[in-house]
Amino acid sequence: MLGSDVSHPLVSQFGDALRRAGYNEAGLRQAVGTSSGLGHDPRGSEVARRRLASGNALHALIKAFCLAIPVPGNELTNAVGAATVDDLVRLALVTREQDALIPRIAIDAAQDLLIAHDPARQGEQLMGDHVIGLGPAPRTLAALTVRLKAGRVLDLGTGSGIHALLALNLCDDVVATDINPRALAYTRFNAALNRLAIPTTRQGNLFEPVAGEAFDLIVANPPYVLSPDSSLHFRDSGMGGDELSRTVVREAARHLTDGGFASILVSWAHGEEEAWQAPLAGWVRGVGCDALLLRFRTYDPVTYASLWIKEEAEYAETLDRWLGYYGGLGIRAMSSGAVILRRRSGVNWMRSAHMLSAPIQDASRHLLQIFDASDRLSRMPDTELLEQRFRPHPSHRIHRTAVSRGGSYVVEGQYLETIGGIPIRVSLGQFGSRLLERLDGNRSLRDLISQLTLTRGMRAGDVVRSAVQLVTQLFAFGFLEIDGSAPDPRGLVEIGIDGSERSLVTS
Ligand SMILES: C[S@@+](CC[C@H](N)C(=O)[O-])C[C@H]1O[C@@H](n2cnc3c(N)ncnc32)[C@H](O)[C@@H]1O
Repeated sequence: MLGSDVSHPLVSQFGDALRRAGYNEAGLRQAVGTSSGLGHDPRGSEVARRRLASGNALHALIKAFCLAIPVPGNELTNAVGAATVDDLVRLALVTREQDALIPRIAIDAAQDLLIAHDPARQGEQLMGDHVIGLGPAPRTLAALTVRLKAGRVLDLGTGSGIHALLALNLCDDVVATDINPRALAYTRFNAALNRLAIPTTRQGNLFEPVAGEAFDLIVANPPYVLSPDSSLHFRDSGMGGDELSRTVVREAARHLTDGGFASILVSWAHGEEEAWQAPLAGWVRGVGCDALLLRFRTYDPVTYASLWIKEEAEYAETLDRWLGYYGGLGIRAMSSGAVILRRRSGVNWMRSAHMLSAPIQDASRHLLQIFDASDRLSRMPDTELLEQRFRPHPSHRIHRTAVSRGGSYVVEGQYLETIGGIPIRVSLGQFGSRLLERLDGNRSLRDLISQLTLTRGMRAGDVVRSAVQLVTQLFAFGFLEIDGSAPDPRGLVEIGIDGSERSLVTS
């Protein structure tokens, strides 16, 4: 349990000791294959233990703070020194039990940051105010955050504080809010652990602590799970169905400055046959923002419930209760994803895509490219689009599969997929691939279309319509570029997740 004196200088010194021992993302991945805690995974933990040699300082720290298992006192003392161990005991970050030291926090690593959180151990019931570490959702949100210099940033539902701390690269005025006071204590602790400025922390419900304020960037990984319970702060909002996600999206739009971005993880219900975008489109309509809707996965109720029920006792009954709740609300399908908003006056656009997996790296650059291209498209009538000379953008690859027929290979299917950024795929039919091969940046789309021979059954009007549709989609998501299509109208400087600065003005 995290003590009260969480931003004590000893915390920063403990962070230094971890870093000196090589406790960082690369070090953890090399030693145990992951940089997120393994406490909840007894098998993974057992396997990892067998990779860790006794007598190695880093390995002792990994046992304590990644695997969250008791460590012989002398191992930890050899790793960080007796004085630091005494400090850890004084701060109640470890407790002594005979010769062993029991860790009371776990520590994950992301980039240069060390992020402490509550350990989750298999067989132990999670407390309602449990503070989560760096699972896939926080890492996805970090990758989907637009990183431009900002005046003010809000991290709503900050938990460990990961997004607030990352935002310190963008500005000094970062506000982290949470309903759970222990989350705010972790945020301050983690700032000290990383020798960073401590963000402003405010306790309260959703946007209440920032009523009437506006931000240039809002990030939120709220408790978006569709759940009948209200026992876990990080999972349950206590609001019905997908109301929490809808509220956060609409309220975030109200709290953005002009040109400000928001990245929000969401989950929502929709009909089995309904387009997944439909409910999200309703949420963002009329909020004064351009919107990019990203879907990660669609689930049936049983799969969704099984992913989110953390309670081990009475599992079968809990599963039935969750399914009964969905049945009562008429929910037969639900999706998870993200909504990226940018406040802009005028007529707003909305775009959607299925995200194949979580971005491997920071996708800020790709997001800016999508927003810039969509702005241009929204100002461009089809007649003007047809005059553009499109060429392939280098950040994608084409995948072709072929079968052997009569002694030669016949292409069976093909699609484009982004390299880096947001993983997006666009399937190409025969017509699309013939068009794509000709988009070399030298001739206008109109000229190219006139040279295409018609596929059987296609009329000339269909060709133009299909070409415009495909090229619009490919340009919007960064597969194609045209002259002057760098996202540089305001001379933007993008800040890498590691704090490095990069001008988006291309020479
Ligand atoms: C899924 S966790 C995300 C934590 C952190 N942002 C991250 O990405 O790791 C959701 C967070 O929202 C907080 N939360 C839950 N209900 C809230 C509410 N009504 N108002 C503000 N924060 C809330 C929880 O305490 C928890 O820290």
